[in-house]
Amino acid sequence: MYLGIDLGTSAVKTVLVDEAQRVIASESRPLTTASPLPGYSEQDPAQWINATFATLDALRVTHAGELAAVEGIGLSGQMHGATLLDASAKPLRPCILWNDGRSATECRILEQRWPALRATSGNKAMPGFTAPKLLWIATHEPEIFAATKLILLPKAYLRLVLTGEAIEDVSDASGSLWLDAARRDWSDAALAATGLSRDHMPSLVEGCAPAATLRSELAQRWGMARRPMIAGGAGDNPAGAIGIGAIRPGTAFISLGTSGALLAPTSRIAANPDRAVHTFCHAIPAMWIQAGAILSAASCLAWIARLFGVAEAELLAPLGSRPQAPSPVSFLPYLAGERTPHDDPVVRGMLDGLSHGTDRGTIVQAVLEGVAFALADCRDVLADVGIAVTEADVIGGGSRSRFWLSVLANVLNVPIHRFAEGETGAAFGAARLGRLAVTGEAIDAVCTPPRRVETFEPERVLVDAYAERLPAWRELYRPRQ
Ligand code: XUL
Repeated sequence: MYLGIDLGTSAVKTVLVDEAQRVIASESRPLTTASPLPGYSEQDPAQWINATFATLDALRVTHAGELAAVEGIGLSGQMHGATLLDASAKPLRPCILWNDGRSATECRILEQRWPALRATSGNKAMPGFTAPKLLWIATHEPEIFAATKLILLPKAYLRLVLTGEAIEDVSDASGSLWLDAARRDWSDAALAATGLSRDHMPSLVEGCAPAATLRSELAQRWGMARRPMIAGGAGDNPAGAIGIGAIRPGTAFISLGTSGALLAPTSRIAANPDRAVHTFCHAIPAMWIQAGAILSAASCLAWIARLFGVAEAELLAPLGSRPQAPSPVSFLPYLAGERTPHDDPVVRGMLDGLSHGTDRGTIVQAVLEGVAFALADCRDVLADVGIAVTEADVIGGGSRSRFWLSVLANVLNVPIHRFAEGETGAAFGAARLGRLAVTGEAIDAVCTPPRRVETFEPERVLVDAYAERLPAWRELYRPRQ
């Protein structure tokens, strides 16, 4: 029996997976995000721990027998967050999250101080990544910078609480900008450029490798027969890839979570930092992931549902299962700024083309199309480095909408595949990593693709209609900096 724990942005989700890779049980607890100033995004690390413990306490009640048999645990987490710890490993302030835009100036300073940043990390310095946040802290909260002894990404902090060990996996570490992506090790030069050294960093392991065992008092609390091994785990996107068997080149997929991404596993680094393509180590050795990442995806749907005061399902139902034609309204999904391809933390969203005839459905369709157009931008910057997306699987909450998947198939002009609910997701991928760390089985034998339940084929008339709209949609973007 294996556990996968995904420390997401909107919730912590824990799944219990058996030897046959069936999800036996799943528990989730919500998380809240604070925005003390416009463009800021923070969470209290104590929330992550309380939510995680609540999921496991609940499983202890409903699935005591299965929990007792857990041998391996995998962690997945929202990437890039800076959790700053003092000498006694206590958080010094709320974690600054992946969608926080405050450190644009520090990104420029960092690239000036360390010109090899793009070549070494494979990434552009963008707000949201971890390293520029530390420069911001050094300038604006110097007493906190001085007291910082250890910097952990969210799931590494969770692991510290679960095991007592400060260990990070290389996939999540790639989102810090402190990692040498080719060597899969910290870059001393990168750390020095932010006034830090290896002493401030956790040790590194591969995602599918063993990291540390669960504390004995926690194993007892959850009724576990032995202390399970916790694997390196992965950032949420690489963990999602593991969950759907996207482990080798030629298996692109889209994530429609709070954020969105178009991701492609590669056997060599194919970086395009100038167009804000992300380079991550994969959660398995000698593989990487190139990704276009957008900051708002399913969160755009949540936003419009909140605005209309109805549940998302109610909003989507009248649209049916496929669009008849593009919406006359256009939407820029930059509600939290954008990374790929603009790297613009201050741009904001837009609805264009409203008229007296605009109804709720027209706007909702425009919102879904705007996210799909943003993913078309991601597709194009991956194509610049020779990564051709010819079909794509979809994971994340947004994949429940058949209408949205049909829009994606037609905007991207590729077949889009949907999986059965439950099998997919970062938590499931994390559980697979927990299993690999314990059994040492062949990676390809464990990380198989789940069954696809439906494929959305592009339709010529709609493909042409969306292709005609894309240039006008792109024209709407005006950089504000
Ligand atoms: C990836 C990214 C997000 C977060 C939160 O670069 O910022 O996907 O991991 O999901």
